[in-house]
Parts: sequence; C-alpha cells; structure tokens
Amino acid sequence: MDRSKDSRLILALDVYERERALEIAECTADYLWAIKVNWPLIIGSGLDIITELKQVTGLPVIADLKLADIPNTNRLIASKVFEAGADYIIAHGFVGRDSVKAVMELGKTIIVVEMSHPGAMEFIQPATEGLIEMANGLEPFGIIAPATRPERVAYIRSKLKDGIKVLTPGVGAQGGKAREVLKAGADYIIVGRSIYASENPRESARTLYEETLGV
Ligand code: XMP
Repeated sequence: MDRSKDSRLILALDVYERERALEIAECTADYLWAIKVNWPLIIGSGLDIITELKQVTGLPVIADLKLADIPNTNRLIASKVFEAGADYIIAHGFVGRDSVKAVMELGKTIIVVEMSHPGAMEFIQPATEGLIEMANGLEPFGIIAPATRPERVAYIRSKLKDGIKVLTPGVGAQGGKAREVLKAGADYIIVGRSIYASENPRESARTLYEETLGV
C-alpha cells in the first residue's frame, strides 16, 4: 500500500531508541509523506538512523535541527546531515540570511517562521514579518508555522510566495487540530506524541491521515 504520495502527514519521531524508531516508522509509513527526526533520536541512535529510516520506509527524512549558528558552523553541520541522507533540514531564520543561505547551498531547507509553543510569542512572533520576507527572498522548500494558531498559519500563508510549502507542527499533543490547520493553508501537518506515544501508532497515523483527506 503506498499512500505516501497523497499524504500530508509528517511523523515527528522523537524517541531515543533505534529499534523503537524503526518499528514505529515501519508500521506508520503507509500513512506518511515524510519522517522528521530531531535531536532526541539523533542523540539516542546516531546520525546513521537517517539512512536506516530511509531504507526501511522509502520516505523522505526531514532533519529538524533548527540550525541557528554562524554560516560556517551551519555549513559544517548541514553537510554531514545531508551526507547521511536527510532530504530536508530545518533551520532558524532569526540568525540571519547568510546563515540560512549556507544551509540552502547544500540542500533543501525549511525555515522556522513562527513556533508552536506559548514562548514563541515572546521573541519569535514579533520577528515573523521579517522572517516571511526572508523566506520570500530566498525561496526555500518550505517554512514552519504553528498548528496551534491556525489564524497565524492563514496570515503567514497569505504573505508567502506561492510554491513555498507550509509545514505545521503542534497538532495533537500541543492542541492543534489537523483539519483546521490544513483549511488555514498548511500543506503538511507534523505530529509526534499523538502517534508515537499512542497505544497503536499505526491506527493513530491512519486516523490522522483520514482526517486530512478531502480538506
Ligand atoms: P509533538 O509531540 O508536539 O511534536 O506532536 C512536535 C514536533 O515538532 C517539533 N516542533 C517544532 N519544530 N518549529 C519547529 O521547527 C516549531 O514551532 C515546532 N513546534 C514543534 C518538536 O520539536 C517535535 O519534534
């Protein structure tokens, strides 16, 4: 069964253990467009987990490192992560255009424009306008916007150039609703705990996948 092409669901695979990660990835893959790995899995299982996940599922892998360093350090990190097989890297935009460009020169990049947690209101949200402008200038593969605030997703989408994808974490455990955020203009929803920490990850992924159909 290959639903991955029409899926708009990304699994945030935030577990430490290699075996558990591979097991969850394998049993949910039918319902996913991509798998997102973050520091917990990379620290727990090593960078090779990216290659293994791709081999086991055949899905794209997004490395959510939220890179936020000077251009040279961003470049040093991103080159190893793309070499390991990552298809996309998430980078922070607030560090400036040169730092983001250093990642974009090496591969497909997703820029954080606004985050999903309450603390994002303190410093990130006030910078969103500038980050949207940066994204429109650099034209990355996509940007991150908060599923917890669908009205912000709609606003960001309305200001963003066509063709730049909107990826939205915050569905499920953080309170965001899949259909609501897709209706607001998200291209993809990113879901972690509601899938990997559920009793039946495959069923949870299937339910979410079905919620996204026909939106
Ligand atoms: P949960 O368990 O809350 O996991 O479904 C969400 C995943 O997405 C990441 N996350 C974000 N990544 N900008 C990002 O780039 C954000 O605003 C954001 N909010 C959540 C989180 O680290 C986890 O992997």
